[in-house]
Amino acid sequence: MRAVVIDEFGSSSKLELRDIPRPAIDPGQILVEVHAASVNPIDWKIREGMMAMRYGEEFPMVLGLDAAGVVVEVGEAVGNFNVGDAVYARSDNGPGRCYAEYVALNPATVAAKPEALSYVEAAAMPLAALTPLYGLRDCGQIRVGDRILLIGASGGVGIFATQLAKNFGAHVTAVCSGRNADLVRSLGADEVIDYTAGDVLRDGDCYDIIYDAIGSLDLETATASLADGGVYLTLVPIPGIDFFIPGETQREAGKGYFVAWTPQARDLEFLSGWVREGKMRPVIDSEYPLEQIRAAHERSQTLHAVGKIIIRVRDD
Ligand SMILES: NC(=O)c1ccc[n+]([C@@H]2O[C@H](COP(=O)([O-])OP(=O)(O)OC[C@H]3O[C@@H](n4cnc5c(N)ncnc54)[C@H](OP(=O)(O)O)[C@@H]3O)[C@@H](O)[C@H]2O)c1
Repeated sequence: MRAVVIDEFGSSSKLELRDIPRPAIDPGQILVEVHAASVNPIDWKIREGMMAMRYGEEFPMVLGLDAAGVVVEVGEAVGNFNVGDAVYARSDNGPGRCYAEYVALNPATVAAKPEALSYVEAAAMPLAALTPLYGLRDCGQIRVGDRILLIGASGGVGIFATQLAKNFGAHVTAVCSGRNADLVRSLGADEVIDYTAGDVLRDGDCYDIIYDAIGSLDLETATASLADGGVYLTLVPIPGIDFFIPGETQREAGKGYFVAWTPQARDLEFLSGWVREGKMRPVIDSEYPLEQIRAAHERSQTLHAVGKIIIRVRDD
């Protein structure tokens, strides 16, 4: 099968499209024919060797944590999927292995693709939408009426975080550049702050949750703008930050957290429900065929994508 492989860490030039054996599945796995994958910034962080402590150094390495496609083989111990099912997933295979024509997946990370979404749209969702679900729901303990500051609202995670926060009934102040203000308003933001026009935080600001997809604040500044009971959540580890592990960490008000999470199919199903109800939609920045994976990574590394970057693996 065709797959994008790296043989060593480095720049986008290390990404190579070539033939490798199709994965064999364990009895507890399913084989998915990938129609679309997506690029997340973590992909190029792994590619550059910045995440070796977590994702290992085993080469050849196939990146790609999101996939949407069709089940073509089902392990004998798997009861909840059939050949022909349209699915999407956030892979828990180390660095992912979704930049390929086929990927063997743990069914506990796979959900039925919402019919309303194409494979391209579905591939945009898993990692980028699950991230703010775990952050806002599990660590943020978001409630109706909460005031939320959402920094990076136009990015891959931000577009879903904005919609999630609105669906949970919060008042959302979104931070993005002026050119993306209309987009984030269309996703539900109540107020927009243009980060290119001045300071994001002002004297007297008081938020129940500050959700920082950019890691642009220092801990002291962020926690000084929290309401009683509030928390600061950052997607990028910054000095002094604590790790929050759902089900393990006792959340403390007034603190800052980096949320560690494990993908769960039931949470993807929960998000699928919002898609079916018309309360959540992906925003696509750009699409690239598998052959142009280097350009897709370079686009992500600009840090100016608006929504998600998609890799088309197979034409629908
Ligand atoms: N911890 C986790 O579990 C986890 C999960 C997912 C992602 N992450 C990390 O979170 C970060 C964001 O991921 P992503 O997929 O959302 O990235 P992304 O799609 O590359 O984000 C790009 C967006 O960020 C905006 N932006 C850049 N600088 C900004 C600033 N100072 N203030 C407000 N907006 C700004 C850009 O808007 P303009 O073009 O208008 O500047 C652009 O729309 C990455 O570092 C990623 O690795 C962590």
